[in-house]
Amino acid sequence: MKNIIITIDGPAASGKEKISQYISKKWKLKHLDSGILYRRLAFIFLNDRIEINKVSNIKKKLKEISSISYNKSQYLRTQEISRLASKIAVHNCVRLFINNLQYNFVKKNKKIKGFVIDGRDIGSVVFKKADLKLYIDVNPKIRAKRRYKQLIDSGEKSIYPKILKDIKLRDKKDKLRKNSPLVVPKDAHIINNNGSFNSTIKQINNLIKEI
Ligand code: DC
Repeated sequence: MKNIIITIDGPAASGKEKISQYISKKWKLKHLDSGILYRRLAFIFLNDRIEINKVSNIKKKLKEISSISYNKSQYLRTQEISRLASKIAVHNCVRLFINNLQYNFVKKNKKIKGFVIDGRDIGSVVFKKADLKLYIDVNPKIRAKRRYKQLIDSGEKSIYPKILKDIKLRDKKDKLRKNSPLVVPKDAHIINNNGSFNSTIKQINNLIKEI
């Protein structure tokens, strides 16, 4: 039987992760957070002091990496890594590297019921033939407020106007880049996540029931 694939795209801090984790648990689908792969790569480049302004340095380093951890760690969520992940994500070589990791992840787990995969280009580029495509839409100010609370709760120092500025900057980078920009994928359902989590989930569960 074919695996079900649900894609969840949307801008930074739109709640994709929380929604994906909920869907994963409720519908018994494996969750893959593609943003973590970009963050993990950003961490490697930072740690190994790779000069990322030169694409040749990035390509050279990518050839040396044989595997990447999918484990989440709080450090990967810091502003420093967020900014760096957004910077490296503009490069085609980085995107191809991460897309391949995602294809292998799905291939290796053929026996399971399906996947919920979140990111910026999952429905538009990586899994164009997904069974259900969702695009999560949230006002930038609401996103900044939620991210601010998340950072404060996790013990990081944080300033709201700076978070809002950062979110707007990342939106611009994600939407205007040449390679796989953030767009509403063809056939995607736009989910408004400005309100309560329960109302968002209700809209989504109704769509999943129809698959
Ligand atoms: O979803 P996130 O905030 O964890 O993603 C971190 C960065 O990775 C984000 O700024 C853009 C990039 N990204 C991407 O370009 N494409 C994806 N599918 C996922 C993330």
